[in-house]
Amino acid sequence: MNVKQLLDLTGRVAIITGGSVGLGRQMAEGLAEMGANLVLCARKKERCVQTAEEMGKFGVKTMALGCDVKNAAGIQEVVDATLSQFGRVDILINNAGASWGAPVEEMRLEHWNKVIETNLTGTFLFSQAVGKVMITQRRGKIINIASVAGLHGAPPEFQAIGYHASKGGVISFTRDLACKWGIHNIQVNAIAPGWFPTHMSEVVIERNKEAILKRIPLGRFGRNHDLKGAAVFLSSDASDFVTGHVLVVDGGQTA
Ligand SMILES: NC(=O)c1ccc[n+]([C@@H]2O[C@H](COP(=O)([O-])OP(=O)(O)OC[C@H]3O[C@@H](n4cnc5c(N)ncnc54)[C@H](OP(=O)(O)O)[C@@H]3O)[C@@H](O)[C@H]2O)c1
Repeated sequence: MNVKQLLDLTGRVAIITGGSVGLGRQMAEGLAEMGANLVLCARKKERCVQTAEEMGKFGVKTMALGCDVKNAAGIQEVVDATLSQFGRVDILINNAGASWGAPVEEMRLEHWNKVIETNLTGTFLFSQAVGKVMITQRRGKIINIASVAGLHGAPPEFQAIGYHASKGGVISFTRDLACKWGIHNIQVNAIAPGWFPTHMSEVVIERNKEAILKRIPLGRFGRNHDLKGAAVFLSSDASDFVTGHVLVVDGGQTA
């Protein structure tokens, strides 16, 4: 196979959680550009509908669904709807995420729980529901969106301990699941993005712009196409011998 064939996603079916805006939308666009059909889900269905319509310009089929990744029954509905529309699931991108900023001493349990349940438990629940399908298919690609926050601590001006803990958990989860499901020909990898301006990061970036940029060797934030290549690679046959990997896309921040 040549490399264009290896990266081709024509006809593949991808579920992207939180695919309506931000990094999820960017990865959805990348996959659609390579021919993948998309299932976009998030709590606000209308934003998924809008993005799904926009992705139609790439000539792929799309579906938009409302779903809270904290809710196992809602996740199963997404998987069932995907199977009845497309008959299979080739790619799952666990991208939906949340953060909460507060000093450790003042972090309320409900805010800690919300972040852990969305970022870590949601990743587990979605992987479990889609993984059962992938096991019967004898193939599949799971990509978990971690963060460089899961690789190291941050100085006291960045106060989001639940977020760091959840992303560290996503990385461990990815590695262990890769070991468990290799026998089913399912590749499980993570992407650890650095700083990209999105709704989630905008306030922190606004308050700490210069301090953040000083720590990024490439001297800039991620752009709205910088994640596409990593997502397409890990979704495609080009990564068939890659599993349990954490692909850092951070402008050198962790170098
Ligand atoms: N931006 C960065 O610098 C950066 C860096 C490293 C990692 N990341 C990670 O990248 C992922 C995407 O973040 P982003 O920056 O693109 O943030 P964003 O613009 O705020 O988008 C978050 C997405 O997740 C969805 N979502 C949130 N809670 C959900 C829930 N309970 N159930 C279903 N969907 C939910 C949101 O839609 P609804 O609100 O409609 O549900 C939205 O589509 C996250 O996992 C984040 O941790 C981001």
